[in-house]
Amino acid sequence: MEDKKGVDIISLIQSDHSNFLEKDDYLNKLLFDFLNKDLSWGKEDVKEFLALFINIILRHFEDEADLVKLLEKKMDVTDNKIIMINAFIQEHETIKKRIGQINIALNDYKPQVREVKENLKKNAHEILELVTKHAQKEDVSLFPLARELLTKSDLEQLQNTVETRKNMRK
Ligand SMILES: [Fe+2]
Ligand SMILES: [Fe+2]
Repeated sequence: MEDKKGVDIISLIQSDHSNFLEKDDYLNKLLFDFLNKDLSWGKEDVKEFLALFINIILRHFEDEADLVKLLEKKMDVTDNKIIMINAFIQEHETIKKRIGQINIALNDYKPQVREVKENLKKNAHEILELVTKHAQKEDVSLFPLARELLTKSDLEQLQNTVETRKNMRK
């Protein structure tokens, strides 16, 4: 196993973006199938399937929140970049709310009702779009800033936090 300690935790977190986009494509295809063919997925099947994607997003947000906390310590509160960073955290909250809504909507899910399926598809698409745009903005502003400002010791701290959380989930 390659020892990634202190190597590039920023790239590791950022790589979730491309991993997610690959899965996004898969999710889009499946949702399309799901709506057009009359698959009789039960409520629990749909929940479980969507949870795969939702968990990737939520875990990634946790890692980014740690990165943001470290970045904030590097900046003066009057720094304009603080506003940009806070906007990302706000967007996480917006996306989390949308995910919460989709979970609630799933309670009314019935495989035979086309309208419910269409609604689910529409909501999932909107969330994916939000996440994609959000990730694109982070790629050009948040991650370059982290590379510029975080020290080797910050990166090690971030790596430890991310790894500890990952191990706790196992
Ligand atoms: Fe984010
Ligand atoms: Fe991100």
